[in-house]
Amino acid sequence: MKVTVVGAGAVGASCAEYIAMKDFAAEVVLVDIKEGFAEGKAMDLMQTASLNGFDTKITGTTGDYSKTAGSKVAVITSGIPRKPGMTREELIGINAGIVKDVTANLVKHSPNVIIIVVSNPMDTMAYLVHKTSGLPKNQIIGMGGALDSARFKYRLAEALECPISDVDGMVIAAHSDTGMLPLMSKATRNGVPVTEFLSAEKQAFVEEETKVGGATLTKLLGTSAWYAPGAAVSVMVQAILCDHKKMIPCSLMLDGEYGESDICLGVPAIIGANGVEKIVEISLTDSEKEKFATAAKAVREVNGDLKF
Ligand code: NAI
Repeated sequence: MKVTVVGAGAVGASCAEYIAMKDFAAEVVLVDIKEGFAEGKAMDLMQTASLNGFDTKITGTTGDYSKTAGSKVAVITSGIPRKPGMTREELIGINAGIVKDVTANLVKHSPNVIIIVVSNPMDTMAYLVHKTSGLPKNQIIGMGGALDSARFKYRLAEALECPISDVDGMVIAAHSDTGMLPLMSKATRNGVPVTEFLSAEKQAFVEEETKVGGATLTKLLGTSAWYAPGAAVSVMVQAILCDHKKMIPCSLMLDGEYGESDICLGVPAIIGANGVEKIVEISLTDSEKEKFATAAKAVREVNGDLKF
């Protein structure tokens, strides 16, 4: 099956690389607006095929969407990333125009495509794709929770001084520094609640470090991260192409779930061949419900800046 990745920059190229390395897709088409850039990234990646042992064909194009025709999944990473000190929300002006154009081109050539939205502010960009693409809501998925949950697990393992594979945890709500909701009450180490091992102070530290995980990396790197975002996207693409029916927190259009409607927010969902197969409603504590509602309010305000 064919996968299109729009934006051959840091995140787009990283996700194309992870998809190819796992060898589950027949073809990955990279699209970029910068002349020759996607072609160059594709050629460089293809020259790793014999070294890394994959058969996925990677091609690149400068804006010729006819090459993307018949894609099962398209990933939108096109747009600008934040610089140190910037919030994801500050990117809306430029990225909304790009995401809207790219979506129209993708749907024109792959009318049944499943779109994974990565460009920031991601919850608002996913909402924009819902409002402009005409695709059914199970075919539009925002990537945030998969990455933020991986960052949560990294911080949990660090605090617990244990291997990452021993811990489990999930981040829901908004993909923003203030709106992320790491579900400490549900996080476990080998099946035992982490709250039994970590002091309240350590729990608060892990939550805060998770929420500012992206900003911490932006400060260190001078631009936003790409390895973990690329890997997170590849897991979502694989869940769709291989029909894993895997539970992954994603930014989805809500219709009453978690008390919210007409908004894209991070919630756990079963991801399989049809895209979003089911939104999973887990029980939240009163404090988590309150934080979810506060995050929704903030995302709604950013959505208000969209012009369709
Ligand atoms: P980048 O600058 O390395 O790559 C973006 C690419 O998009 C560039 O190559 C650029 O030429 C291309 N582009 C711009 N306009 C285009 C258009 N109209 N059509 C096709 N290509 C176009 O940026 P990076 O680091 O890859 O980040 C991409 C986006 O992903 C940013 O908005 C960033 O904030 C977001 N991001 C989201 C994450 C998430 O968890 N949802 C995680 C990391 C980044």
